[in-house]
Amino acid sequence: MLVLTGISTLVTNDTSLERGKLGIIENAALVVSDDNKIAFAGEATNLPREYKSGAIDLNGRAIIPGFVDSHTHLVFGGDRAEEFEARMSGKPYTAGGIRTTVAATRNSNNDALVANARRLANEALHTGTTTLETKSGYGLSVLDETRSLQVANAITSETTFLGAHVVPAESQINEYVDLICGEMLDNCAPHAKWIDVFCDRGAFEVDHARAILQAGAKAGLGLRIHANQLQHGGGIQLGVELGVASCDHCTHLDSGDIDALADSKGNTVATLLPTAELCTRSQFPDARRLIDAGVTVALASDCNPGSSYTTSMPLAISLAVLNMKMTCDEAVWSATAGGAAALRRSDIGNLAVGSHADFAVLNSRSHIHLAYRPGVKLVDAVFVRGQLAAGSLR
Ligand code: NIG
Ligand code: FE
Repeated sequence: MLVLTGISTLVTNDTSLERGKLGIIENAALVVSDDNKIAFAGEATNLPREYKSGAIDLNGRAIIPGFVDSHTHLVFGGDRAEEFEARMSGKPYTAGGIRTTVAATRNSNNDALVANARRLANEALHTGTTTLETKSGYGLSVLDETRSLQVANAITSETTFLGAHVVPAESQINEYVDLICGEMLDNCAPHAKWIDVFCDRGAFEVDHARAILQAGAKAGLGLRIHANQLQHGGGIQLGVELGVASCDHCTHLDSGDIDALADSKGNTVATLLPTAELCTRSQFPDARRLIDAGVTVALASDCNPGSSYTTSMPLAISLAVLNMKMTCDEAVWSATAGGAAALRRSDIGNLAVGSHADFAVLNSRSHIHLAYRPGVKLVDAVFVRGQLAAGSLR
């Protein structure tokens, strides 16, 4: 049993409290039961007597649900610092850079890949991420995609098969799509929960993406899609048509895309990845238009060595508020409950009674500081399943 009091602002994302979408409780207490679920989340004055002894006083700090980062690419070898530097000198970002990381990943053994993925997952944990999804996609052969997913499973159960990241240098597109839908899927599906396709310029077109996602659905995988990052195309409409859990990037949108996402009534989440736009010096997606149309929006880091080499969800929140016209409340919701929705999970991303006790203690009195104090380390302590996993309460 863990009892925390002196919580200035407790963000629960529990709408049943009728305190708005964030379910904010001020002067709160939080109790974690011995099975590591939330047992009580409410005003400290209402804390049942049996919980009062042994309570830890947070002295006016805020607690938020742990971030749910629903889009990362942590299984890779090497890095692309030189490509980044060239980009900052004016060279445009293209999907082709992925092949540089494919070569480095194929040259890395499983232990090295696990160590690198763990390093990044640990980095994410220290900034408040308690659940993350991660993808294959830098192997692009049956062997290297399969072992990439085995590596992914060492750090999370939210694993995604992304054999359709780009066409590897040695293959022709049609034969590679057949390989993905056949032998590669057969080998990878047992290690994956989801399948994803990079449907964009320089990667896969809509018809190939449809065939790959349909094959994945037949193999029992949940669907996700990278759509409209580099140019406007049919990826979002395809995603909604197939009922994918999430269309990710959504940088280039027209009103048809927004209507399609809104008409899905939350079945398909729009996951925005503002650090990818930051690190490729691209325009930010129109979060305001999406939210105003009624689309469920998630924020994620897209951590990968090419377009977004950061694990920081607080940075994504800052950018969403400062550059994408999201409110502070919307950005915090999208980085927690929104990410959970993108993974079709309701047991995480909120601190309702019965949910997993995954949360971050901030060294500020409010969640607003996450956007208000960009670039500052605001996470004091991170609890996963009720256990202190990073930082300290001192
Ligand atoms: O989500 N868009 C496709 N994949 C990654 C980029 C991968 C890379 O450049 O290595 C992304 O941005
Ligand atoms: Fe991505």
